[in-house]
Amino acid sequence: MRRLFVLAAAVFMAMGLVAFWGSTPRAAEQAPKAKVAKKAVAVLQNSDCVKCHPAIVGQIQAAGGKHKTEVACLDCHEGGHPPATAKGAIIPKCSKCHEGKSHFRLPRCLRCHQNPHQPLKIVFKGKVKAACKTCHLKEVQEVNQHPSAHSKVDCSFCHVKHGFIPNCLTKCHKPHRKGQTFKDCVSCHKVHQPLPATYGDKIANKQCGACHGKIVKLLESGSTKHAKLHCVFCHQGTHGMIPKCQDCHGTPHPAAMMSKFKKCLNCHVNPHNLTT
Ligand code: HEC
Ligand code: HEC
Ligand code: HEC
Ligand code: HEC
Ligand code: HEC
Ligand code: HEC
Ligand code: HEC
Ligand code: HEC
Ligand code: HEC
Ligand code: HEC
Ligand code: HEC
Repeated sequence: MRRLFVLAAAVFMAMGLVAFWGSTPRAAEQAPKAKVAKKAVAVLQNSDCVKCHPAIVGQIQAAGGKHKTEVACLDCHEGGHPPATAKGAIIPKCSKCHEGKSHFRLPRCLRCHQNPHQPLKIVFKGKVKAACKTCHLKEVQEVNQHPSAHSKVDCSFCHVKHGFIPNCLTKCHKPHRKGQTFKDCVSCHKVHQPLPATYGDKIANKQCGACHGKIVKLLESGSTKHAKLHCVFCHQGTHGMIPKCQDCHGTPHPAAMMSKFKKCLNCHVNPHNLTT
């Protein structure tokens, strides 16, 4: 009880002091605002803030980032303290210190940097694509230039906070086959341009087999040298790509022979099994 009283008294006195410096008529007459403000600031030191704003000081200590190391309370909260100053008068605009990049011309900084005392705790809500574009031009262009279901939603639909990478399988999609992982999904689908599927040369046949099971069986059960090849060795890069036999084999037979047959497959039957 006694401690509470002492604390209350201290708060009262400190605020009185602030009010005093802020409102003394002599000061106001002799030197307009700036000087009063300076004096008020001279009264309140950075080390005083913790007495009445321990939660905010705690937030900055915990995750203030450069707002902890590069600036102090009074660099932002200049010019007095309520009740001597009007409500809002010592709340800084971000542009006081951040200017020059397109990012700093975005509206409503605190929409994402919700807490200026923890500036890197960033929350995304609603439409943020224009903001992402100020730093991730490549991804924004990729999404915009390749219309897909993914370009119909905003970046924040998937990236709910900065740096977060969503897993395709958690909420939105079922795999094509059992055991497929997120890594498999992105090995065939560039997430910002999901279709057509594109892939490198390391995709296992079983991945294609999720939809082309019969062809995988046919190929792998064959007895010719094609049986040892991967689907993606022939069907390179983009889903639906079909190679020509001649791309790999040139002209293996005499022209006279080929003039009688239009297609290689007239004799070699099926690329996935040359003998059946
Ligand atoms: C003696 C207690 C006390 C001290 C010390 C104190 N404050 Fe305050 N502060 C308050 C109270 C009480 C309010 C709420 C005033 C109101 O709402 O009218 C407040 C409000 C504020 C506000 C909000 C102003 C606004 O316009 O909304 C800021 C910013 C602030 N303080 C910063 C500081 C900083 C920076 C320091 C240290 C330099 C500091 N305070 C030291 C008690 C204190
Ligand atoms: C980089 C600038 C910056 C620094 C540094 C900073 N603040 Fe703030 N502070 C702000 C801004 C901006 C707001 C207004 C936030 C809002 O509108 O939601 C604010 C709001 C406040 C408020 C009123 C809001 C509330 O939640 O009660 C207090 C009190 C406050 N700051 C105290 C401090 C103290 C104490 C320190 C130092 C430990 C500090 N600030 C350091 C920018 C800063
Ligand atoms: C009094 C000056 C000042 C004000 C006002 C200010 N900042 Fe800063 N801020 C700095 C400085 C200095 C740095 C460190 C250098 C830099 O990154 O530009 C910084 C860094 C940052 C960072 C990076 C933090 C890190 O740890 O890397 C973010 C984000 C940021 N500020 C957001 C804001 C937002 C949002 C506002 C408005 C609510 C704001 N700042 C207001 C001075 C300020
Ligand atoms: C749509 C969300 C969003 C909005 C709106 C936004 N920012 Fe940012 N800001 C970010 C993200 C995300 C980062 C990157 C943080 C990182 O690198 O970890 C960032 C980084 C920063 C940085 C540190 C990097 C740098 O380039 O210096 C500063 C400073 C900053 N923002 C200030 C601002 C200011 C000032 C505003 C308002 C004019 C603002 N931000 C509006 C999301 C936003
Ligand atoms: C101010 C610049 C800035 C803004 C704005 C920004 N970012 Fe970033 N972003 C970065 C930087 C810098 C990194 C790399 C940080 C790192 O490597 O930790 C990054 C990393 C990322 C990553 C993680 C990359 C990885 O490989 O893990 C994702 C995802 C991301 N940002 C998404 C977004 C989205 C979505 C937005 C818009 C809401 C956005 N960013 C806005 C600067 C920004
Ligand atoms: C459908 C969900 C989804 C949408 C919408 C989305 N992303 Fe992504 N994003 C991801 C996933 C998943 C990854 C990880 C991709 C990987 O690992 O191959 C990623 C990766 C990133 C990265 C890290 C670098 C990279 O390219 O791998 C950045 C930056 C990024 N996204 C920014 C954005 C921006 C900006 C937007 C809005 C234009 C956006 N994303 C829209 C899901 C999405
Ligand atoms: C071996 C490559 C491959 C892998 C691995 C793969 N996909 Fe696909 N996916 C495709 C192909 C090819 C299509 C297009 C089929 C068509 O044309 O109907 C497709 C279609 C889709 C579609 C339907 C798109 C539409 O609107 O028609 C979704 C959703 C999808 N995949 C999600 C996933 C997810 C999630 C994973 C990971 C579990 C995954 N895919 C793994 C190749 C792959
Ligand atoms: C999600 C199911 C799915 C996956 C996985 C898938 N495909 Fe397909 N594929 C289809 C469908 C459906 C068609 C027929 C419709 C079409 O032409 O897009 C097709 C057609 C094809 C065609 C013929 C295109 C044409 O023009 O006739 C080739 C070649 C092909 N796929 C190769 C592959 C290869 C190689 C893989 C593995 C890297 C693969 N597919 C993975 C569903 C899939
Ligand atoms: C992407 C390259 C590629 C394409 C396209 C391709 N092949 Fe082949 N083919 C190979 C390779 C590699 C071998 C094995 C060569 C070796 O080991 O000497 C082979 C072997 C063969 C053989 C010999 C089989 C054996 O067991 O001795 C025949 C016949 C053949 N291919 C016919 C065809 C026909 C017909 C087509 C078109 C329908 C075709 N190939 C398309 C790469 C290809
Ligand atoms: C040696 C090269 C080669 C390999 C290996 C190969 N293909 Fe093909 N594939 C072809 C050629 C050439 C055609 C076109 C045949 C034609 O012209 O009728 C074709 C056609 C197709 C077609 C469309 C016609 C059809 O039969 O439905 C699909 C789908 C297909 N391949 C899937 C696959 C899958 C899945 C694998 C792996 C299990 C695979 N291919 C392995 C060369 C190959
Ligand atoms: C009239 C039937 C016929 C046609 C058409 C035909 N082939 Fe052949 N091909 C054969 C026969 C039979 C053999 C086996 C010859 C041998 O063992 O020397 C053969 C062998 C091959 C071989 C294996 C050669 C080796 O040295 O092992 C390749 C590769 C091949 N053919 C590719 C093709 C391609 C590519 C086409 C289309 C441009 C084609 N063939 C058209 C009948 C044909």
